[in-house]
Parts: sequence; C-alpha cells; structure tokens
Amino acid sequence: MKKAIVLCAGKGTRLRPLTFTTAKHLIPIANKPILFYSLENIARAGIEEVGIVVSPHNAEEFKSIVGTGENFGLRISYIIQEEPKGLAHAVWVSREFLGDEDFMMYLGDNLILEDLGKFVKDFENSDYAASILLSPVKDPTRFGVAVMEGDRVIKVVEKPKTPPSNLAIVGLYLFRNKIFEGIKNIKPSWRGELEITDAIEYLIEKGEKVRGYIVYGWWKDTGKPEDLLEANRKILMETTEELLGEMDDKSSIQGPVRIGKASKIVNSVIRGPAVIGENCFIKNSYVGPYSSIGNRVILEDCEVENSIVMDECSITGVEKRIDSSILGKGVSVKGSQKRPASLNLILGNMSRVEL
Ligand code: G1P
Repeated sequence: MKKAIVLCAGKGTRLRPLTFTTAKHLIPIANKPILFYSLENIARAGIEEVGIVVSPHNAEEFKSIVGTGENFGLRISYIIQEEPKGLAHAVWVSREFLGDEDFMMYLGDNLILEDLGKFVKDFENSDYAASILLSPVKDPTRFGVAVMEGDRVIKVVEKPKTPPSNLAIVGLYLFRNKIFEGIKNIKPSWRGELEITDAIEYLIEKGEKVRGYIVYGWWKDTGKPEDLLEANRKILMETTEELLGEMDDKSSIQGPVRIGKASKIVNSVIRGPAVIGENCFIKNSYVGPYSSIGNRVILEDCEVENSIVMDECSITGVEKRIDSSILGKGVSVKGSQKRPASLNLILGNMSRVEL
C-alpha cells in the first residue's frame, strides 16, 4: 500500500478562538502540530504518497506549514473538498489521486499512537475489502460503532442512539477500491453527510469481509480544550531529556524535560514531563508537569502547569498558578499592582477566561 489520504477539511468550530487562526490539525501538542505525529506514523507504515484533503479556507495554511512532505519522507499533495459533505464525500473527491489502488484513510484530528505498519501488512496479505481500527469508549453514541465476530466486523452503524457495542471506529481505515461501490450506493445521513460508515456497512451487507482491530492509547479530539490537554499529556509522557538552553545555578530541572536552543532559565524550577522551545526566557518561575511552552516565550514571576503555551506568549507577574490553560500565539498575560485593582482585558472573539 503506497497511498493515503488524510482528512483535514473540518473547521474545528468547537475549538474557537484557537481555530480562528489555526486549523485544529495544526495546533501544537508538545510543540509539534498534531498532524505531524500522524504523518510520521503514516510514513513509518511504508506509505509514500499522501493526499491531504483540505477545505478552500485552510488550504494555504496547510501548504505553508506541511509543505511538499520532504521532511516526512512523503510526497504530499493537496485535495480540495469544496464543501463539508462527509467522510465518504472526501474519499470521492480524492478518486483521481487514489486511482485503482488500495489506500489508507486517516482522520487528521485523531491521534493514533499504534504502529500502523502491522495493520497495513495484515491487510495486504488478506482478502478483506476493508480494515478498521476500533477502540472501547464510554460514550459510543458520538462515534461510528462496530459489532465484531472473532476478527471480523459484522455490522457498523454511525452514531447509534442505542449502541450495539462499546467499540468506536477510530480514525484509521484501510480500503480496497471496492469502497467506491459502497460510496456510490449510499445516501446522505440525518446530518446531511455521506458517511463512510454507511459505505462500509454496504460492503458488509454485500458479503464482503471487513477486519476490525481493537487498539488502546488512542485519542480523539472532541473539540474541548480539555481534550487537547489530554493529548498533550499523552505525548509528553514519552518525553526524553534534552537540555540545549542554559540555566543558572539557582534553577533546577526535575524529571524529563526538553529545553530548546538559546532558551535561558533563571532562578526557576522546571518539573517534567515538559517541553520548552527555543529562545525562551524563564525567570523566577515554575513550569510544572505536562506543560508545553513554545518558542520565544517569556515567563517571569509566574507558575504554569498542565498547559499549552504557544509561540511568542508572555506571562509576567501573575500570582495565581496558570493551570489547564491553552494560550494561542502571541498572547500576553500580565499581573498589575495598579490601583484601583481591576481587570484590564483585551480579548478576541470567543476567548474564554476563568478567574
Ligand atoms: C467520524 C466518523 C465516525 C468515527 C469518528 C472517529 O465522526 O463518522 O464513524 O467514529 O470520526 O473520530 P465525526 O468526527 O465526523 O463526528
């Protein structure tokens, strides 16, 4: 299997205001866009050519950040999905790119930490028409849900009111060209989308074999900031130590921490797992576990924990610990001693502040 499509056309409305300026797939987790983890995993599975399905609004951002794929050892091209008409529609608009070949479909907002190579190999050596990953979840009604018999999937249903199992369809699918027959034969669902789940069910009903693999350690962006923080924690758990910046003798680094080039730590405690980018300046501060601090960030007289702080932010003189927070690029948070004591806020559309 040489080709994959990665679906990134979604608008990410539930992650506003972050997604006003950045596609949700490009939000950094441990200082790297979510999508990059997927592309690396796809490349490791032996895929050579990737079509990223984007919307007309976000195409340019993807092209400038992801590029031609050289850095991943992939050849990447961009496929525009003019309207968000569903996952099966995204496959349909990719038909020229895919030709007659078997292919992988990856949902760009899913983080799958499993080695994908073994699923690809098994699929190539089988006569299955499709192969899907499944993961047990608490609330299956939000997902496509599968019923298994041995290794085989015998039924799939999209967002069922009464789920027939707790096995959610995870964002990775392997298909043979037969899936197009399914796509041609389905109608839009209640949400007005052509569901890939319905196309798979069509194949099952025709007697085609579909393989299911149950995986753990999978994360799905449900749009809430807490979910991004959870993904951040998952990735940071794998952090290995790398200290490229400088620190003075009054500072201490505890646990696995990565600090980028030309960052300076003065009289501060950094407690991992945590990553700090390049050219940061951290003084009289505490950076606690599960924090991702971007590049060119200034932290002075403050405490940050379990948070994502993107490039060029500055946090100074804030007494209370900043916890479970996500700060977009260039955000400034500053304590003030001025009287009368008041809050002075300049917040963009749909910002959220909890005091
Ligand atoms: C889509 C699929 C669903 C799958 C889910 C996994 O749902 O339709 O079957 O379980 O992705 O992330 P959506 O994110 O479009 O609601």
